Amino acid sequence: MAKNIVLIGFMGTGKTTIGLRLADRLRRTFVDMDREIESLNRMSVAEIFRLHGEIRFRSEEKLLAAKLSDREDLVIATGGGTVLDEENVAALMQNGVLVCLDADAVDIHARVSRKKGIRPLLGKGATVAAVEDMLQAREPFYACADLRIITTGKSLNETVNSIIDNLKIMGHLPVAPAGAGPASGGNPE
Ligand code: S3P
Repeated sequence: MAKNIVLIGFMGTGKTTIGLRLADRLRRTFVDMDREIESLNRMSVAEIFRLHGEIRFRSEEKLLAAKLSDREDLVIATGGGTVLDEENVAALMQNGVLVCLDADAVDIHARVSRKKGIRPLLGKGATVAAVEDMLQAREPFYACADLRIITTGKSLNETVNSIIDNLKIMGHLPVAPAGAGPASGGNPE
């Protein structure tokens, strides 16, 4: 049994896409916190914000973070604001290694603009400057990460490889013995 790999970071840094690919490579179960909250509440994050307010969403997020702290071997994608709450950080760290995905404001702006309307905290007309301001305000919270990975300028595979290589160096993933390939039936990666 191994610690969860918990992806944190600002909106639009690729936590879901990268988390899915990482879980696939490591043959682990993937949990996307926003999607889990949506399925528990049978409504989208945007609807929860609109109908019940941010406080309700944050309380759902906190309950889920606490619940996930009892699990092992997962890859977890958090929401961009999950680590703004220190109790969530403590819960996720209890049995997890925190990996922050970083991207620059221009990159984030381009990504979130492609999916308008699903992120209640970044309005439809959010500018690069608004993203930059929010990014700077949140930077101290993302500093809790055990590992930070820059995604800007990297392909999905390069990012996933970089996470895996670093987690191996840090001792959070097994390093396959020389010569061991997939056919040997050894550990994934
Ligand atoms: C939020 C980020 C969103 C979602 C919610 C709040 C935030 O997740 O949890 O809209 O506070 O940054 P993504 O980071 O997946 O967009």
